[in-house]
Amino acid sequence: MDIDWKSLPFGYIKTDYNVRTYFRDGKWGSLELSSSEHVDIHIAATSLHYGQEAFEGMKAFMGKDGKIRLFRWEENAKRMQMSARGILMAEVPIEVFKKAILKVVRMNKRFVPPYGSGASLYIRPVLFGTGAEVGVKPADEYLFMVFVTPVGPYFKEGFRPVKMLLTKEFDRAAPQGTGRFKVGGNYAASLTSMKKAHEKGFANVLFLDSKEKKYIDECGPANFFGIKNNTYITPKSDSILPSITNMSLITLAEDMGLKTERRPVEESELGTFEEVGACGTAAVISPIGQIVDDETGKEFNYGTEPGPISTKLYNKLIAIQTGDEEDKFGWVEVVE
Ligand code: PLP
Ligand code: COI
Repeated sequence: MDIDWKSLPFGYIKTDYNVRTYFRDGKWGSLELSSSEHVDIHIAATSLHYGQEAFEGMKAFMGKDGKIRLFRWEENAKRMQMSARGILMAEVPIEVFKKAILKVVRMNKRFVPPYGSGASLYIRPVLFGTGAEVGVKPADEYLFMVFVTPVGPYFKEGFRPVKMLLTKEFDRAAPQGTGRFKVGGNYAASLTSMKKAHEKGFANVLFLDSKEKKYIDECGPANFFGIKNNTYITPKSDSILPSITNMSLITLAEDMGLKTERRPVEESELGTFEEVGACGTAAVISPIGQIVDDETGKEFNYGTEPGPISTKLYNKLIAIQTGDEEDKFGWVEVVE
């Protein structure tokens, strides 16, 4: 195997196996191991026509001790159940989810990037309607599948400040829509704005709430946080994904003696933050160096280096995930 672990992008690399289980006749079948990169589905499957699809994203890390660790997988399992309920799909039981991710990681151990490479094994569970319908209604058959792929940083900058384009031109999710579920349609809805941001030299888009265009929602595929006056502040919104990384950073921030606030964050507050960043499984923490308002050209600048609190949070999170630091919150599961 010839992988340059240190310069891995966030992309797809074929591994040895994936796992699959079908929901048919009202129950989940056995877990199948597959070495095929393809699935064969009905031409009228609801996932293809009506977007009945949800996914998750997690990482496995190689420790200094040679042990592979998963980070808070149970939260991802619960969130996938919430996404399934949100678009009327069959829920994957927690135990089925666990069995699937453990199996796929064990079977692809040789693809877990080495300790210290900065890379990890990305785990991608996906659930979608395979049953045929032509009218708009939920399928009665589903496939739950998990593949893995070794990845490097999501933003090519790694732990370096990125630029975000604040846009009012596009919405990612409606206030009472599917923004809080991890369903494919939200990502389709973000593609045009992301393309625009990339063309203008930005790492991604900072979305505002789509009703009032007044409050910060999230940053492409990551939540937003800001730091000021020793306080970690992150938006409360019904149209953003409840990020497991963000939830963890809140705990870590409190543990470090910071105050934390989850509340609506007005765009007008952007100029008052000492540090801002994007956080998520793929993004980890990406410090934001600059935000530019696409409409007015107004710039918010946060410096060319990661801020001290973001750096501390980043180091702490990575240390727990890789097993360098004691797992005092019980977030880590060793893959035996
Ligand atoms: N927001 C969106 C839209 C995402 O796709 C993700 C990635 O999963 C996140 C936030 C971060 O969530 P998490 O920290 O659970 O990965
Ligand atoms: C993740 O952080 O796991 C994500 O899902 C981001 C992604 C859509 C690439």
